[in-house]
Amino acid sequence: MIGKSVQDAINNQINMEFLSSYIYLSMSAHFEHENLPGFARWMHAQGEEERLHAMKLFNFINDRGGRVALQAIAQPPVEFGSPLEVFQKALEHEQKVSASINALYGLAAKEGDYAAQVMLQWFINEQVEEEKTATAIVEQLKRIGNDGPALLILDREMGARKAGGEEGGGEGGEA
Ligand code: FEO
Repeated sequence: MIGKSVQDAINNQINMEFLSSYIYLSMSAHFEHENLPGFARWMHAQGEEERLHAMKLFNFINDRGGRVALQAIAQPPVEFGSPLEVFQKALEHEQKVSASINALYGLAAKEGDYAAQVMLQWFINEQVEEEKTATAIVEQLKRIGNDGPALLILDREMGARKAGGEEGGGEGGEA
């Protein structure tokens, strides 16, 4: 049986993962609007992956005999600026998610919830990857700028990422 404080904190994390999904979906729409279909596809896949993160936590609470309490998802921005600005925002967001996961792990440790700690280790590793991937794309965009042939090549590579959180992706890799 899961303790109330860990359960409540995981419920908050579920909301953060759904918010992440919403933000990336909105970023995908932004790139569609900007005629960058590869970036749009990458962000769409990322949004789907975040939904799966939320469901992993959702299932964990249920498996432990706890009570899932879904919360309202905040409205994401509609406009995000240049491709570099979009990925800088994505990186900042992932850094916030990492801090939240770390705090959650700290709480699970304080409460002596070993099952939650084991489950959260997956998320800790995932955040290392997510920050690494976002940082790599930010650095590439800094080199190539926000327009021109190199951006179109990167767009094509980003579009190679498979949908639904599967492995895959071009230079940009997967998050
Ligand atoms: Fe599920 Fe990108 O954090």
